[in-house]
Amino acid sequence: MLGNFTFCNPTKLYFGKVALDGLKEELPKYGKNVLLVYGGGSIKKNGIYDKVTALLKECGKTVYEDGGVMPNPSVDKLYEGIQRARDCKADFILAVGGGSVCDYSKAVSISVNCKEDPWDKYFLRFEDVDPDCKIIPVGCVLTMVGTGSEMNGGSVITNHAQKLKIGHVFGENVFPKFSILNPEFTFTLPKYQMTAGFFDIMSHILEQYFSGEDDNTSDYIAEGLMRSLIHSSEIAVKNPVDYEARSNIMWTATWALNTLIAMGKTTDWEVHMLGQAIGAHTDATHGMTLSAVSLAYYRMIMPYGLKKFVRFAKNVWGVSPAGKTDETIAKEGLAAMESWMRRIGLVMNISDLGVTEDMLPGLVKSTLIMDGGYKVLTEEDILKIFKESM
Ligand code: NZQ
Ligand code: ZN
Repeated sequence: MLGNFTFCNPTKLYFGKVALDGLKEELPKYGKNVLLVYGGGSIKKNGIYDKVTALLKECGKTVYEDGGVMPNPSVDKLYEGIQRARDCKADFILAVGGGSVCDYSKAVSISVNCKEDPWDKYFLRFEDVDPDCKIIPVGCVLTMVGTGSEMNGGSVITNHAQKLKIGHVFGENVFPKFSILNPEFTFTLPKYQMTAGFFDIMSHILEQYFSGEDDNTSDYIAEGLMRSLIHSSEIAVKNPVDYEARSNIMWTATWALNTLIAMGKTTDWEVHMLGQAIGAHTDATHGMTLSAVSLAYYRMIMPYGLKKFVRFAKNVWGVSPAGKTDETIAKEGLAAMESWMRRIGLVMNISDLGVTEDMLPGLVKSTLIMDGGYKVLTEEDILKIFKESM
């Protein structure tokens, strides 16, 4: 751990089959007007909506609703939500859903009292919340696992007109005050969403792991998280209602992106930039945009971080190094990851997400270039990765 850092994560977690009871402890801490935010209706079908609203009533809250948050929440929906929160004088925002609902709720929470256009300020200019801007506190009941949004300050918003999907990682004041994590709430997820979430978790870990050269405890934790994810994901794809597997994955997802394993690391995030460009143009499912470009990306940067790729092959995938060159070991590691990705049923090509050849120059333009990983990409590199991922 060669770097200097500050670690603080203020989100309180309630985990397990009775986690929702945590609402009874948390809700009394906040004002009467609660804005209940949710997505396209899955919570009404699987009964979570009824359970949550019953508890809100029991706690004496006046409930206002903001439903219809779409996957990859749009800036237009954000403007609508800000107005809704202002109209009902929301004291508290309860997000019930996946990363999209949680990200959106955070964006609303920092925009209600913001004097400027939140898209321009937070997502184009990457400015922080002004000190005198009152943030509406957010709590989360998570129904989809993957993003880590339940315990971080991230918020990703899509602007379709500008063909930009941009994430801003805010500070501790924007983290959810608490999150309710009941693995059973994720059982009704369609398999496509479930496995997309699995790769989102893997990608979050890889984005942080593949950076830096020092001996860092964060990397040992990352390897453990990846091994747990690989093990449990194989069980969960065969039996999605295996509580043990789904609960391990839920916990892994949270720790994969709650700042812990970024400590002392520069971190990369280029795969997410490639994936977000695809998302901006196609609105495809986040985790699948990452799976479809990851192998082409990692094969390209492997020579620049060879030692780490060898370690990844040995410690995460159990590749035996005996009698092999470093390059062979590293390649076998990525091949093992590819087999796992195919076994759990991920999308492996961007053409399967609706990308066509003529869209590639636009995708390159929408891809932000990061400098924390093993290679700073050029626009030619980005085009090559997209072409190889077709
Ligand atoms: O809208 P409903 O009807 O609820 O359906 C959702 C949605 O269609 C469905 N779903 C969720 N829970 C369910 C369920 N269906 C049945 N049963 C349940 N229990 O699943 C679909 C996808 O939900 P969504 O919230 O969009 O998925 P996810 O959690 O993957 O969130 C994706 C968003 O998070 C951003 C992504 O870019 C994307 O916009 N990210 C946020 C991050 C962060 N805050 O740190 C980091 C990530 O890298 C990511 O970028
Ligand atoms: Zn992600």
